[in-house]
Amino acid sequence: MRLTYYGHSCIGVNTAGHDVLFDPFISGNPLAGKIDVEQIPATEILVTHGHGDHVADAEAIAKRTGATLVSNYEIATWFGAKGVKNTIGLNIGGSTAMGPFRVKYTTALHSSQLPDGSYGGNPGGFVVTGADGSFHHAGDTALTMDMQLLKRFNLRFACLPIGDHFTMGVADAIEAAKLMGVRRVVGIHYNTFPPITIDTQGAKREFKAVGLELLLPAIGETIEL
Ligand code: NI
Ligand code: MN
Repeated sequence: MRLTYYGHSCIGVNTAGHDVLFDPFISGNPLAGKIDVEQIPATEILVTHGHGDHVADAEAIAKRTGATLVSNYEIATWFGAKGVKNTIGLNIGGSTAMGPFRVKYTTALHSSQLPDGSYGGNPGGFVVTGADGSFHHAGDTALTMDMQLLKRFNLRFACLPIGDHFTMGVADAIEAAKLMGVRRVVGIHYNTFPPITIDTQGAKREFKAVGLELLLPAIGETIEL
């Protein structure tokens, strides 16, 4: 699997000939100036919750690429009303076949309101399972015991928030990784805004100290996982 980091919680995963894009937020991200939204590939767009820093560019990318937008029912309906043609609205604990994958919408402990004030349903994360195995994008969440339920997916890696303030910080993300039984973590939701600025080298050391690996690709960088 090839993973590209587009900043904040926006991750692209290329696997099985598909480009699965999570939480597109380029416009308005002060750190993502060199990313061209028009060039981001997507066959599926997975939106974890309704906050602006997760949905900002979803409509434009969905309309340009024709990608299927997957989220909770309320968010999928909201994008459908904006003219996004292909949407799938799940709810917590539900899964669906999507091309060569199975996508499951998992628990997140957070909130979810759309940018225009519309109700954004319950926030979630995703487990994507395909021929290359499973991986997880946690969206915005606190540490929660529900994470131990993800152990059965034998996750190859998990994208976990580490910025604190609005979500888990580094120490809680380490506990989350342990609950999930995952050794490789891609850090998301950090450094974008002053309240979520962290010591990235210190974070890597904290993960390493307990036998885990924290990957922090640069914005625009692609890594193999
Ligand atoms: Ni949020
Ligand atoms: Mn957020």
